[in-house]
Amino acid sequence: MELVEIFDTTLRDGEQSPGASMNVEEKVTVARQLAKLGVDIIEAGFAFSSHGDFEAVRRVSNEVEGPVVCSLARAKSEDIDSAWQALKGAPRPRIHTFISTSDIHLKHQFRLTREEARDRAVDMVERARGYVEDVEFSPMDASRSEPAYLYEVIEAVINAGASTVNIPDTVGYSLPHEFGELIRGIRENVPNIGKAIISVHCHNDLGLAVANSLSAIMNGARQVECTINGIGERAGNASLEEIVMILKTRRGVLGLDTRIVANQIYPTSRLISGITGIMVQPNKAIVGDNAFAHESGIHQDGILKEKETYEIIEPESIGITQSTLVLGKHSGRHAFKARLKELGLELTDENLKRAFERFKSLADQKKEVFDEDIEAIVTNEVLRVDLRERYKLTSLAVSSGTSGTPSAEVEIEIDGEKAREKGTGDGPVDAVYRTIAALTGTKSSLLRYSVNAITGGTDAQGEVSVRLQEGDCIATGHGAHTDIIIASAKAYINALNKLETKKERKEAVI
Ligand code: KIV
Ligand code: ZN
Repeated sequence: MELVEIFDTTLRDGEQSPGASMNVEEKVTVARQLAKLGVDIIEAGFAFSSHGDFEAVRRVSNEVEGPVVCSLARAKSEDIDSAWQALKGAPRPRIHTFISTSDIHLKHQFRLTREEARDRAVDMVERARGYVEDVEFSPMDASRSEPAYLYEVIEAVINAGASTVNIPDTVGYSLPHEFGELIRGIRENVPNIGKAIISVHCHNDLGLAVANSLSAIMNGARQVECTINGIGERAGNASLEEIVMILKTRRGVLGLDTRIVANQIYPTSRLISGITGIMVQPNKAIVGDNAFAHESGIHQDGILKEKETYEIIEPESIGITQSTLVLGKHSGRHAFKARLKELGLELTDENLKRAFERFKSLADQKKEVFDEDIEAIVTNEVLRVDLRERYKLTSLAVSSGTSGTPSAEVEIEIDGEKAREKGTGDGPVDAVYRTIAALTGTKSSLLRYSVNAITGGTDAQGEVSVRLQEGDCIATGHGAHTDIIIASAKAYINALNKLETKKERKEAVI
């Protein structure tokens, strides 16, 4: 069976989802899981864009075995050089360089003529080839570019050594038949196209990213760029799980498959939503909570008689298991580690030790520790600890009730120095947030605050998500605890730390 290569860009385009930034430790954990999932290529970041991205590409290159590791780079010498510096520990490195080819972008954003853009693309592909064998080139906004000029650029970059040409529908504007025709046009009009793999990269602004990718595959594309849960810039990218399960479920018609290990799809989806805090909509295909839930009586009746009546995919095949194992305070390290593994959470020894300690203290507070609790411990606490974390919560006391003004006393560490402050507010969370803002001297505004019970029961952990804005920087923070005020404080501090990191990031044009 012919294979379609899966290029996962969760760590690069996925991370461009508003509020979805991940720290280096989180990215390495995601990359390990992507390798287990069997993706062919991991786009680990955009090395030149920030210190964090550089470090993520470098660590994934050195530590994650299996897939090709790729860094994005604008068609600029400094980007290409930085991508190579970050990638050089990878057994199979790829540099992915791009420049726009649409007149709209060239005129208004890049201020280049078509000829200048084509020559820049060629020069930078050649520069990248000086470092690596495997070079991918993307003509950004390809779907709104003039086809004849697009063919000319593609032919030139293949001659310069690009072995993959990736055709982006950058603004998610194409219709499936148009995008399919574009791919067919490239196959028919670019004389040297046989020397490269055609890839596609579709955005979901009109909800057509998966349909457009599929149409491209049906017209000869053999690499698809996609993300777990479809996260990404604006409305997101084509969702990996949907593409893969379409090819698998309709293999008889399409005659194509991927190397994806399907039973790792669900654990990977959970890991990404846990780490980014971007929840999957309940009715999302393949990985949504309701994707296998049959509500109507007629459907339930059919399913009980014969699953095939209303089920086209077995939930177990994508790794949804009905876990009967509930951990508690008598569970040992071995059982805990085994459960982590089943949940797709493989940790370093140091992180395992910290997760186990946190699990033990949670098990003292609550009788039964469920899978969701374990996932929250790992994604909200263990992986979230970034060495560059500026603020840390060390102690918190609040008072509130039906009478009196809610107040808070907070102690935090700022760059390792303890600071303590008392304050009041309209409610206990407001009192805590005002006090933290006073302690840190930050002036962010709270755009969103939400609290969710991770499991059932009054002893459930509360998971708090906040979205903060300071100037033009937005960051989302998360925190979980059986005490929702503590969870709220953790989420706020997590968001403040992310804002700090974002402010340090260099400006980069994507
Ligand atoms: O959407 C896009 O065009 C991109 C390119 C950098 C490939 O993300
Ligand atoms: Zn994109």
